[in-house]
Amino acid sequence: MIKKRVAVLISGRGSNMAALVAAAQDAAFPAAIVLVLSNRPGAAGLATARDCAIETAVVDHAVYGRDREAFERAMQERLEAHRVELVCLAGFMRLFTPWFVDRWQRRMINIHPALLPAFRGLDTHQQALAAGVKIHGASVHFVVPDMDAGPIIAQGAVAVRDDDTAATLAARVLAIEHRIYPAALSLLAAGRITIVDGRCRIEGAGDADGRLLVPEV
Ligand code: GRF
Repeated sequence: MIKKRVAVLISGRGSNMAALVAAAQDAAFPAAIVLVLSNRPGAAGLATARDCAIETAVVDHAVYGRDREAFERAMQERLEAHRVELVCLAGFMRLFTPWFVDRWQRRMINIHPALLPAFRGLDTHQQALAAGVKIHGASVHFVVPDMDAGPIIAQGAVAVRDDDTAATLAARVLAIEHRIYPAALSLLAAGRITIVDGRCRIEGAGDADGRLLVPEV
């Protein structure tokens, strides 16, 4: 099997990156993580990646000031140097210009800690608690110029508990993120996703029975 060459872009802790790296260690996984790139030199995930013998790179956005395209061109150079075919954003805290998004159209995916299109942006768990939703979760989606938009590949849900805080909710959602992100990357790398009218169709996907009721009654 020829594995797709993947870069994971991070800004911080990198637990989703680590989940992708762990999944990709399986010989049957259709993608290899060839680069972990951070825009922050101090990102904790860089050390995690090095411990897993994954190549790392830092392209510090601060060096480029307001010139977002210069920052992106520097990243693009690194991605090309590693012959990267797919990009996974995993807690990457920079917005892209259309120039960069265009280059990676249908080849760049992101994980967002909410059931999109609800709760875009930051503090999603606080947003979910404030809205009083009973079900919350995470989404993996293709990246388009709009933030936290783009065709949804996978979602996972958790029940919101009466005594949840943003932190307890975040911890349960994170566990879901670590399951759906490798699954979504695997589908993309295997060429099993087609986008029809803005919706992702997954070839060979089992039929979830359509029931997801919270609270259980
Ligand atoms: C995750 O919750 C991810 O969904 C969001 O930022 C967080 C990053 O966590 N985009 P980590 O760096 O993957 O641990």
